[in-house]
Amino acid sequence: MFFKIIFVIFLVFANFTEIFGQGESMTCTYALVSSVYTCNLKLNNTRGLNNFANIGGNHLSGKNDNLVLSVTSVAGSLSPNIPSIICAKFRNVQKITMNNVGIKNILIEDVSSFAYCSLTSYIEVCNDDIGQIDERSFINNPGLLELRLWNLNLSTLPETVFYNLINLERLYLHQNKFATLPTNLFRYLKRLQTLNLQENFIVTPNYKWFDTLISLKNLYLESNLIVDLPADLFRELTDLETITLSNNNLTILHSDPFGYLPKLKYFSLINCQLEAIDENLIDNTGAIQLSLTDNFCVNETVIDNSATRYSMRIILSECFDNYANLVGQTTTTISSITSTTANPNLPPGCIGGNVDARICELEDNNNKLTENVEDLMKKNLELENQNKVFASMFENMQSQIDELKNRPCSCL
Ligand SMILES: *[C@@H]1O[C@H](CO)[C@@H](O)[C@H](O)[C@H]1NC(C)=O
Ligand SMILES: *[C@@H]1O[C@H](CO)[C@@H](O)[C@H](O)[C@H]1NC(C)=O
Ligand SMILES: *[C@@H]1O[C@H](CO)[C@@H](O)[C@H](O)[C@H]1NC(C)=O
Ligand SMILES: *[C@@H]1O[C@H](CO)[C@@H](O)[C@H](O)[C@H]1NC(C)=O
Repeated sequence: MFFKIIFVIFLVFANFTEIFGQGESMTCTYALVSSVYTCNLKLNNTRGLNNFANIGGNHLSGKNDNLVLSVTSVAGSLSPNIPSIICAKFRNVQKITMNNVGIKNILIEDVSSFAYCSLTSYIEVCNDDIGQIDERSFINNPGLLELRLWNLNLSTLPETVFYNLINLERLYLHQNKFATLPTNLFRYLKRLQTLNLQENFIVTPNYKWFDTLISLKNLYLESNLIVDLPADLFRELTDLETITLSNNNLTILHSDPFGYLPKLKYFSLINCQLEAIDENLIDNTGAIQLSLTDNFCVNETVIDNSATRYSMRIILSECFDNYANLVGQTTTTISSITSTTANPNLPPGCIGGNVDARICELEDNNNKLTENVEDLMKKNLELENQNKVFASMFENMQSQIDELKNRPCSCL
C-alpha cells in the first residue's frame, strides 16, 4: 500500500516534470478571429515530445474544445514535431497552421501528426527547414481541400504521400528545393484545381506528373530552371485557365506541349529569354492575356480577344519569324503555309494550324455579308415589282376618276 502511494506520487511527479518541470508546454490563447473560434497555440517543445497530457489555456465563456475550428501557431513557438494531441484534443478543427516553429518532421513515433484531424480541410506548414515528411503523414485526412507545404527546404517527397487526398483542390509546394518530383506524386488528385510549384529548381517537368490532373485550372511554374517543355506536357489539361512560366529560361517556345487549351486566360512568360515562338500557340488558345515583357523577341503584354488577335500577330511577328527560320520554314506569310490540322476555334471550312485565323474569320464574315446583300437585292426587286403593281392600280383608279368627272351631269 505504502509503495503503491509512493509509486503514484512518483508517476505524477514524473509526468509533472515532463510537462512543466523542463518548461515543455503547449498553451492556447483562445479568441474569435473573424468569428472563427481559434486556438492561438504557443508551443514550447524543444525536445520534440509527443506525449503531452494536455494543452493549457482557458476557454472563452460558453466555449469548449469541440468548438475550436482553427489552430494557429504563434510567434516564438518552438517544436521539432507536430504533437498528435492537437488533433486529438480539438476533434472538429478545420484549419491548422504551423508557421516557423522549427519543425523537423511531420509524423512522429507511430502516430501521424494529423491522425485525428479527419474533419480538417486546411493544413499549412511553412517557413521551416524540414528534414522529412513521412509517406503516412496524411493518410487520415481525405477531407483536406487545401494543403500548403511551402518554404520548407524540401527537395523530395515520398511518392505516395498524397495518396489519400482524393478531395484536395489546392496544393502549394512553392519555395522549396525540388529539382524533380516522383512520377506518380499527383496521380490520385483528381479534384486538384490549383498546383503551385513556383520558386523551385525544376529543370525538366515531366508529362507524367500532370497527365491525370483532369480538373486542374491553375498551374504555377514560374521561377524554376526550366529550359525545355517536353512535347505533350500540358496536353491532358484542357481545363487550364492559368499557366505561369515567368523567370525560366525557355528561349524557344514550341506549341506541342500546350496542345489545345481553349480555356486558357492568363499565360505569363516574363523574362524567359524568349527568342522564338511557334505561332500555332496562339491559334490553339481561347482569348488570353499573354505577359511577355523582358524577352528578346518581344517585350510587352498582349491582351487578346478575337477582335485583336490580328494585332497580337503583329506584336509577335519577330518571334514567329524567328521560329519559322529555326524550323526551316522559309517565311511565315499566311499564303505560304498550309496545315491539315482542323482548328475547332475557326468557322467550319477554315483550316487551322498555321493559317491566319483572323483572315479566315474575315473571309467567313465576308461570305455571310455577301449572302445578306444578295438577300436584300432580292427583297428590293420584290418591292419594286409590288410598286409597279401599285402604280398601275393607281393609274387605273385615276382614269376611273377622270371618267366619272367627265360624265354628263344627270341631276335636276
Ligand atoms: C521553454 O522550455 C525551455 C526548456 O525546455 C525553458 O527553458 C523555457 O523557459 C521555456 N520557455 C517558455 C516561454 O516557457
Ligand atoms: C536545406 O537542406 C539541405 C539538405 O537538403 C541542407 O544542406 C541545408 O542546410 C538546409 N537548410 C537550408 C537553409 O538550406
Ligand atoms: C539559357 O539556356 C541557354 C541554352 O538553352 C543557355 O545558353 C543560356 O546561357 C541560358 N541563360 C540563362 C540566363 O540561364
Ligand atoms: C523591356 O522594356 C523595358 C522598358 O520598356 C526595358 O527596361 C527592358 O530592358 C526591356 N527588356 C528587354 C529584354 O529588352
